[in-house]
Amino acid sequence: MTQASSTRSAADTSRPALATADTPAAGEPRGWWRDAVIYQVYPRSFADANGDGMGDLPGIRSRLPHLRDLGVDAVWLSPFYASPQADAGYDVADYRAVDPMFGTLLDADALIRDAHALGLRIIVDLVPNHSSNQHEWFQRALREGPGSPLRDRYHFRAGRGTAGELPPNDWESIFGGPAWTRTENPDGTPGEWYLHLFAPEQPDFNWESPAVADEFRSILRFWLDMGVDGFRVDVAHGLVKAPGLPDLGAHDQLKLLGNDVMPFFDQDGVHQIYRAWRKILDEYPGERILVAEAWTPTVERTANYVRPDEMHQAFNFQYLSTYWDATALRQVIDASLDAMRPVGAPTTWVLSNHDVTRHATRFGNPPGGTQLRTAGDRELGLRRARAATLLMLALPGSAYLYQGEELGLPDVTDLPDEVRQDPSYFRASGQDGFRDGCRVPIPWSGSAAPYGFGPTAGGPSWLPQPAEWASLSVEAQTGDPASTLELYRSALAIRRRQPELGAGDRVEWLDTPPGVLMFRRGDFVCAVNTTGQPVELTVAGTLLLSSAEDRQPGVLPADSTSWWAV
Ligand code: GLC
Repeated sequence: MTQASSTRSAADTSRPALATADTPAAGEPRGWWRDAVIYQVYPRSFADANGDGMGDLPGIRSRLPHLRDLGVDAVWLSPFYASPQADAGYDVADYRAVDPMFGTLLDADALIRDAHALGLRIIVDLVPNHSSNQHEWFQRALREGPGSPLRDRYHFRAGRGTAGELPPNDWESIFGGPAWTRTENPDGTPGEWYLHLFAPEQPDFNWESPAVADEFRSILRFWLDMGVDGFRVDVAHGLVKAPGLPDLGAHDQLKLLGNDVMPFFDQDGVHQIYRAWRKILDEYPGERILVAEAWTPTVERTANYVRPDEMHQAFNFQYLSTYWDATALRQVIDASLDAMRPVGAPTTWVLSNHDVTRHATRFGNPPGGTQLRTAGDRELGLRRARAATLLMLALPGSAYLYQGEELGLPDVTDLPDEVRQDPSYFRASGQDGFRDGCRVPIPWSGSAAPYGFGPTAGGPSWLPQPAEWASLSVEAQTGDPASTLELYRSALAIRRRQPELGAGDRVEWLDTPPGVLMFRRGDFVCAVNTTGQPVELTVAGTLLLSSAEDRQPGVLPADSTSWWAV
């Protein structure tokens, strides 16, 4: 693909360092986040500097030039805080400390500084719905027993039944099983129960407690003072529970998730919290942002999180959940843009993250949700994934990439049970929870595992990498114009040169045959063929980039996307 190689040299490697907190750069445009391409780093699996098989902050720091060369604007780091790792760091024991497995606070500081010097912003994960059960507050609450004021910071309740032997209500954990675990009193007798919407090691905070609200305002300031550019807010829809914690009265509750407002999700009270946080962020220079991980029933309800005085962005999970189908894609694109326009927030787009099957695998399988167990048709999946990415990067708003998708990595669907670590896999008895498959460490170089993920050939990696990943490494793909890595580099370089790609809040749809989408944005046209057949299509303009190798003039290849300047 010659376009890919010709635009490679245009990758913006010379962009200026970012403003520091104290000195905004002259002429820096407002609203950097409105069309930003934000790259998710999953620290366990990105790069391992000390060779223990687990990714770490010095490893990430050493690979920042890859992200700069790729052409992204910001990096979102999944949690690296002190944690017993019951849910891969989403169980935080100390919100102001770096887990020794990932490094130190000094490493975090150096990472933030290096990123800024390379023109990359840093967004960190904030986990306010629950802490680890090893958090000092929870441990003290357990030790001090019923009546301890510390218990008010979580949801402790007496059980139902004659002797309190039944959970206080019928809620189920997202990871399977009851959402309550019974405690033991300090004297060894059975005690109260506590609520955990996720694993038992992740007790939910009680956001009615002023101490909880105060603590998180202070944690925000701690990281803002460290210089971070924003926060991705984990389970942003879960902090407030319906008064009285009412029964749901339904079986198979997981099926209801995302279809309705639940007594523990998407309660209107959450918005007050984010209004308070926004005020704090606005005190800091440099446009720090809040990004909601909010699984809501509709895009309209997602828009509530990004009203002008709340967060800046919310993930578009409706888009992520949409299959490779022209009608469905057009519908979700229109619905997303329509929902965000009235609140003035940019729409976001995302295809993969650390919780779902990678899109290169989803699209090689028949439609079937976001947690798949089958590899499907690898070639078809990758072909569609490349096309889906070019579509996403042509839409107005901000796009999220998940580490490794720029290499076209598939999910590893055949990990043996004994290496799996995802708690949802074990709690759901292997019925669901295949998140380890998208968390396998990144191949960087070389012909022997861990393919440059760690410093030594033959060294460990916390999840095993498939042998065929040698040919998918950054090194193997660099300079190969047909590679997925060079496609991403070219697309992002074009997006930087043609700011209208991410700007605005509308697309102008053009007439097309069934299964094909085409839209215009300024003097740019994007056409997408979601069918398995080539389609005749002539665009009067210059072809900028295509996701397919098998191009001919006047034809849009099967399962492909092309960009033109017109
Ligand atoms: C979010 C995270 C997920 C985690 C859960 C509990 O959904 O993305 O990885 O397991 O929250 O914190």
